[in-house]
Amino acid sequence: MPPNTTMPNNMPSTWNELSFTSGNADLLARDEQAFLRQSGSTPCIAAIKHAEGIWLEDASGHRFMDLHGNNVHHVGYGEPRVIQAIMDQMRSLPFTPRRFTDEPAIELAEKLIKLWPGGSGKVLFATGGSDAIEIALKIARVATGRYKTISFYGAYHGSGFGALSIGGRHVDRPAELGPLVPGALHVPAYYRSPLESGTIACDSEEWAVQSLASMRTVFERDGDIAAVIGEPIRSAPYIPPGWFWPEVRALCDAHGALLIFDEIPTGLGKTGKMFASEHFGVRPDITVVGKSLGGGILPIAAVIASTALDCAQHLTLGHYTHEKNPVTARAALATLNVIDQDRLVENARNVGETALHRLREIAEGSPIVTSVRGKGLLLAVDVKAGDQDDLVPGDVAKSIAMKLFQRGISISASSDGVLSLSAPLTITALEMAQALDALEDVLQEMLPRRVQRLDSAEAAEPLSISNAR
Ligand SMILES: Cc1ncc(COP(=O)(O)O)c(C=O)c1O
Repeated sequence: MPPNTTMPNNMPSTWNELSFTSGNADLLARDEQAFLRQSGSTPCIAAIKHAEGIWLEDASGHRFMDLHGNNVHHVGYGEPRVIQAIMDQMRSLPFTPRRFTDEPAIELAEKLIKLWPGGSGKVLFATGGSDAIEIALKIARVATGRYKTISFYGAYHGSGFGALSIGGRHVDRPAELGPLVPGALHVPAYYRSPLESGTIACDSEEWAVQSLASMRTVFERDGDIAAVIGEPIRSAPYIPPGWFWPEVRALCDAHGALLIFDEIPTGLGKTGKMFASEHFGVRPDITVVGKSLGGGILPIAAVIASTALDCAQHLTLGHYTHEKNPVTARAALATLNVIDQDRLVENARNVGETALHRLREIAEGSPIVTSVRGKGLLLAVDVKAGDQDDLVPGDVAKSIAMKLFQRGISISASSDGVLSLSAPLTITALEMAQALDALEDVLQEMLPRRVQRLDSAEAAEPLSISNAR
């Protein structure tokens, strides 16, 4: 940190300078010793001691509203009905070895198929989103007899080699990892980040037009595409125009390719519909869900595929040890029941709409906000430096996220200046209003003063800050 620059309001420039973080120091030091470091995850901000509802509490007793949550916390942390279901299940049937089945797994598969907008389907479970993506890729290869895929630059689909290959983030695909899976073709996404978009909006029609044109070219020149894979709504969020996915569907149909939706962050109500694809009236061939499916407690993901794609019985598609784990399945069933009983999808839609309206008002009053976007409870605010500041948007976003964290609200901030808010589906209108009031205050505080330039090592520092997922 440059010694002669002072942050207004005693604003710390690194997370461990935050006044209340001292109670975390011991655990953070042990974490640093015990874990392999990796981009996007380390170093950590704090050690969490308690999680309940929309709240997290760290080792120093600092309590904060979690508007990030890795998109796992749809029903809030520690939902009692999910905990009870898990405990009951553990007592009666804690595990099912492969080649046996069990009622919770079957019931969950049936329930997901019923909810799925893709028509008649069949399911496989995995323990995480990345593994489920691998299953979807294998199905696409076997079903079409082709191996090439089209996905988007900038996308993230998981950490396995297949998922990494279809992912389009430069940082995930360095040369040192060696060759990735062949045939993973990429086209520009239907959005641009604030840094890439220049004077045009991130979610402008123009980007979607270009994306579709590129995709059409690849289909026409390469021809033998097995599948297009994408998030119907990028979770940051970036939202394509209504015509985009129907056009992609038509291209897939014309060229005999499958359409695979990665709904790992967006599925199960986050966007105000059970599946984000429902906003576009498009039927996917395969949908992958994960994250929140385990109720924010247990890891489980699912691949839901058209019945016609049940064509690989000779292969170990997703021969995972926990493929029919009754406890994770029970957690998922309880989660879906809570979403249904408490009308959480409706709540996400309503609270999200009001929040987006409020964000637009906030944007009008703040010269450092360049735009806002949202669908359900996925909300984003793009920020830039004030006129007199020569800061990069990522520094501004990080400063805002840190100030909000001090006030007890955790959001994520990307290096290109996007603040992402992803609230649990349980959030009340009042809680959301409080969070947005705090955001407005922080934006106001930032105005007359120069925020401190953060050196690049610090800017790359912790966890959610680099990655709005
Ligand atoms: C869009 C998307 N796909 C796939 C994944 C991978 O899921 P998991 O972390 O459960 O492997 C993620 C995780 O952040 C994601 O955001």
